[in-house]
Formats: sequence, structure tokens, C-alpha cells
Amino acid sequence: MSVAIRAARVEDVDDMRALINRYAAEDRMLERSRDFLLEHLRDFLVAKDVSGFLGCCALAVLTPDLAEVRSLAVRPEASGRGIGRQLVLACISEARRLGLRRVFALTLVPDFFQRCGFVLTSLGRLPEKSASECPVCPKRFACDEHAMLLHLDGTIPEPLWSGEPVGYTRLFLGVEPGGKSAQ
Ligand SMILES: CC(C)(COP(=O)(O)OP(=O)(O)OC[C@H]1O[C@@H](n2cnc3c(N)ncnc32)[C@H](O)[C@@H]1OP(=O)(O)O)[C@@H](O)C(=O)NCCC(=O)NCCS
Repeated sequence: MSVAIRAARVEDVDDMRALINRYAAEDRMLERSRDFLLEHLRDFLVAKDVSGFLGCCALAVLTPDLAEVRSLAVRPEASGRGIGRQLVLACISEARRLGLRRVFALTLVPDFFQRCGFVLTSLGRLPEKSASECPVCPKRFACDEHAMLLHLDGTIPEPLWSGEPVGYTRLFLGVEPGGKSAQ
């Protein structure tokens, strides 16, 4: 069955919200409200086939140089068909069209993003995110997310070096996600 990736429309918001918040309830991604999805609707792409909605993903521009892939979700029944990768590649194409140089994601599934060409790096090398949005994120005391970065000019981002901490909580608060001391 062929899958179409297209810009999200108002009619998709309820499906997007139900899927994102289903995974959020399992602590696999951040919850999004209907108002948030409407406000950021132009960032979102959806995947569909004849059976209907299959998944979604957003590209959020943070600076003239950098964008974030966020709110990526594929329905469990549709997983393993390459739909997640198609959504991410469509976001990367959009980032190129916009003239951006770098795209990143914060994720609990680093291997998936690595399969899409991203490199595991340190959140410390993305201050545009860690100094602005992370400190007010509801998960800041329990952030175990891996920072994955792609350079659109083909250069290789500086990787996460051995011993560098993963996740906002360890890196910036010096504790293990959940509160235990990282020392
Ligand atoms: C992660 C997710 C988006 C993957 O979507 P998908 O459509 O099943 O993935 P694809 O079929 O496009 O997989 C692409 C590649 O990644 C691999 N992959 C998929 N999910 C993976 C995972 N959880 N861990 C490691 N590798 C994974 C696939 O094996 C495939 O590898 P290949 O290059 O050898 O073919 C989907 O499982 C999902 O929505 N998960 C819950 C929400 C979530 O974690 N979102 C990410 C938030 S940043």
C-alpha cells in the first residue's frame, strides 16, 4: 500500500494528538495539547495511506542555522514499514529547502535516528536547545534523551565522546534522571 507524506491539515489534529499522547502516556515522547498542535500546524507532516492516518512528525526552526525534528510518531500497527524514516527524510528535505545547515532530534530511540543518518552527539553542543527550551521542559529532571545531529553540508558532527553524559538531567543538573546523584 503506497504511503503519502503531506503537510498536516486541521482535520489531522485529532489523530496526531491521540497518537502522540498515547506514546506520551508510556513516557516515550512529550505530550502535546490540541492548542499546541494547531499553533504549530505548519511545522507538521503526516503520513497516510488508503486506510487513513499512519503517523506524523514536525520540523521546528530554532535559529537561522538549526532545526529540530520533533513529535515523530508512527502508529504501532504501521511500524517497520519505513514510514518513520520517510517522515524524517521529508523533514530533512524541508530543512534543505529552507536553507538550514543542521537538523537535530532529542530522542529515546537513537538507533532509529542513526539509521536515518544522524550522529549521536552531546546536548552540550546544542546550546540553542539546552539553554532555551530544556530548562523549562516538564521532563528536565528526568531527561534521558539522546542528542542526534545531522549536518546538511555532509560534514560529520562531533560525536559523543566516551564518558560524556547523555540527557539534560545528567549533563546540566549532575544527577541521574529521577533524582539519584550522578557521582
Ligand atoms: C520510532 C518510530 C518513529 C519508528 O518508526 P517506524 O516507521 O517503525 O520506523 P522505520 O520502519 O522507518 O525504520 C527505519 C529503520 O530504523 C530501524 N528502527 C525502527 N525503530 C527502531 C527502534 N525503536 N530502535 C532501533 N531501530 C529502529 C528499523 O529497523 C529500520 O532500520 P533499517 O535502516 O535497517 O531498515 C516508531 O516506532 C514510533 O513512533 N515509536 C514511538 C514514538 C517514538 O519513540 N518517537 C520518537 C520520538 S523522537
